[in-house]
Amino acid sequence: MSGSGPVSDKLTTLRIMRKKQKGERIACLTAYDYPSALILDQAGIDLILVGDSAANVVYGRPTTLSIGMDEMLYHTRAVTAAVKRALVVADMPFLSYQVSVETAVANAGRFLQAGAEAVKVEGAGPIVPAIRRMVELGIPVMGHLGLTPQSVHKLGGYRLQARKPDDQDRLLADALALQDAGCFGVVLEKIPAEAALRVTRELAIPTIGIGAGPGCDGQVLVLHDMLGLPEPSSLKFVKQYAGLGAAMRDAVRRYCEEVRSGRFPTEEHTFHTDAGR
Ligand code: KIV
Repeated sequence: MSGSGPVSDKLTTLRIMRKKQKGERIACLTAYDYPSALILDQAGIDLILVGDSAANVVYGRPTTLSIGMDEMLYHTRAVTAAVKRALVVADMPFLSYQVSVETAVANAGRFLQAGAEAVKVEGAGPIVPAIRRMVELGIPVMGHLGLTPQSVHKLGGYRLQARKPDDQDRLLADALALQDAGCFGVVLEKIPAEAALRVTRELAIPTIGIGAGPGCDGQVLVLHDMLGLPEPSSLKFVKQYAGLGAAMRDAVRRYCEEVRSGRFPTEEHTFHTDAGR
């Protein structure tokens, strides 16, 4: 992967949608900075979400509610500087798209100016007109249903959603409304596998699951959770693919030890004046 332009197998929203038609699963992860995005892209990820989960895993905050446009734009710019192949989707933060159609469109446009190729918003109902307008104006939108973390206080915590048949009917109606408004895909978070499979079968656009079972068209995880950063995740729906927190702690401990004992730096890391050689 060299050169400055996009690569020929560049993932677009159209290609992501075609993957569903071809029965190809879509692999997605979050990223918030340049080196992580570069590694994800080099490793062949299809879609990178600059998630507002940055509030949790980068800034150590209890909810996503306090992250704002400036922080999300900053992370989006860092990610898009690295990515050549994957589709980059930026999460619109709380209150950046709910207040009016006009502010939603203006804020979404700022993410595209920062290099993102699409935005993601949580919920349906009252925000459907804003989604429709963004799509009309050429801004691709991804939906997000089920557990929508920006509504954590209304939902009463990060609980499993759509457990009852009525809730599952409403979930499907919301997903169809998002598709009808022009969304190119929808994230389904923390819902029973059966409900996710039903939505996936009914929709023509891809579903991307997180804690929604194996029946979705793709899967997404928060990068820090699957890498064990800073600790292994205790969430049931997360699989840990590496223990980077433990590896970093071990590296830093060894560094501290070697500095304190004088074993670092050695001759190979040291410059000399000509006279000193
Ligand atoms: O912010 C985020 O990382 C997300 C994913 C969990 C889907 O919205």
